[in-house]
Amino acid sequence: MSKQNTLAILKPDTVAAGNAGKVISVIEDSPLEIVAMRFLKLSLNQAKGFYAVHKKRPFFKDLCRFMTSGPVVVMVLQGEDAIATWRDMMGPTNSKEAPKGTIRRAFGTDIERNAVHGSDAPETAAEEIGYFFPGIDLV
Ligand code: CMP
Repeated sequence: MSKQNTLAILKPDTVAAGNAGKVISVIEDSPLEIVAMRFLKLSLNQAKGFYAVHKKRPFFKDLCRFMTSGPVVVMVLQGEDAIATWRDMMGPTNSKEAPKGTIRRAFGTDIERNAVHGSDAPETAAEEIGYFFPGIDLV
């Protein structure tokens, strides 16, 4: 195990439903630490840039529309194996398949409106953190 940073997003469905505080509480009760946080509404260009890897996918347009539909909370989470730990806490992409005890089961709706995002690997975590927190100096 090693200390890692990962990018988490509380998506527009979470914020609009008034669940941001609840998800933050779940994180605070976990081994992960919130070491950076921003509240913002993504522009279409920001959403397209963030999800550029999915730009050829049929769901890309709807995903960008959803992600710009309201404010989000973007955070850097830090801890031992933070990437896998946060992904386990979130549950699978499709909220309908998420097991009990996961954030997507509790707060997500389906595969698109899935409450939260988490980086999937160390390289993507570094890129995604730099995307929202350029120049941030994380220990
Ligand atoms: P996220 O973990 O943020 O990464 C990419 C997002 O695209 C994903 O969560 C979902 O919100 C969305 N997504 C992935 N697959 C599909 C799909 N088949 N249909 C609609 N949205 C999807």
